[in-house]
Amino acid sequence: MAKVAFLGLGVMGFPMAGHLAAKGHDVTVYNRTRAKAEAWVGKHGGKAAATPAKAVAGAEIAFSCVGDDPDLREVTLGADGAFSAMGKGSIYVDHTTASAKVARELAAEAAQRGFQFLDAPVSGGQAGAENGVLTVMVGGAAAAFERAKPAIESFARAVALMGPAGAGQLTKMVNQICVIGVAQGLAEAINFGAHAGLDMKRALEVISKGAATSWFLENRGGTMVDGKFDFGFAVDWMRKDLRICLEEAAANGADLAMTKLVDGFLADVQKLGAGRQDISSLIRRLRRE
Ligand SMILES: NC(=O)c1ccc[n+]([C@@H]2O[C@H](COP(=O)([O-])OP(=O)(O)OC[C@H]3O[C@@H](n4cnc5c(N)ncnc54)[C@H](OP(=O)(O)O)[C@@H]3O)[C@@H](O)[C@H]2O)c1
Repeated sequence: MAKVAFLGLGVMGFPMAGHLAAKGHDVTVYNRTRAKAEAWVGKHGGKAAATPAKAVAGAEIAFSCVGDDPDLREVTLGADGAFSAMGKGSIYVDHTTASAKVARELAAEAAQRGFQFLDAPVSGGQAGAENGVLTVMVGGAAAAFERAKPAIESFARAVALMGPAGAGQLTKMVNQICVIGVAQGLAEAINFGAHAGLDMKRALEVISKGAATSWFLENRGGTMVDGKFDFGFAVDWMRKDLRICLEEAAANGADLAMTKLVDGFLADVQKLGAGRQDISSLIRRLRRE
């Protein structure tokens, strides 16, 4: 069992850090809003630190799961940031969905300071974090990956090394491009079926046995028909992720025509006040709700 730190106890980080503690790791947490760190210690034991630097001091592995590139830069390189206190030979594992660019920058910075950085974004959502069954896509050095993998498996069902620094974030981008296309396709299909007078619950049940099936259809089809959206993966977060995909595509030359189009649809959905709702609320703009 290792001495570890976890920075960022949001919807994802709070349960992920909890699984590390449940597996017997010695966990020190940091959260910008202190009350969440205290609530975590109240639930799981361990210790709360006042700054990222204090949290990671002496840790063999430090984890983070914050919002976007600037947040990640702040907890790593900002005032009292984690990188100022990482020990030689330690490993920093970042679970934020961020750009490949910041991952490469932080990996280079870590190497200069004598420790390793892994970009390790996750898929599986809040339920995956709570149930400890996330999928983790990792970029970085193989030796660091092998050392960190057992701890990551505390909250993951699948953990894969995808390549050098940035490769985890690039794989997460592939994931989000797939998901957003499927989400919009399902929204149009359900809306079309309703216009055609079909019983869409029955229609989804039938087509889920064939080529149209997907995680999205099985987990969101019914709630989309029912008009329920107050859970899941927020539109605001998906727009952040798609911005990262579109920036990467601008650099590597890939055509993301569909992704760009659906990103515009998500902007419409934000105007309907659905920024915090699940991305299946894409169907709301078709229903003109
Ligand atoms: N939610 C999902 O279903 C899901 C699924 C896959 C991936 N992700 C990704 O996982 C990451 C976290 O998502 P989440 O849902 O856990 O978000 P969240 O609930 O909003 O939590 C964000 C966490 O980051 C901290 N934070 C943000 N900016 C910070 C800064 N500048 N300095 C220090 N701490 C900062 C927040 O601290 P405070 O408590 O002080 O605000 C909070 O602990 C995101 O990159 C997201 O895209 C989320």
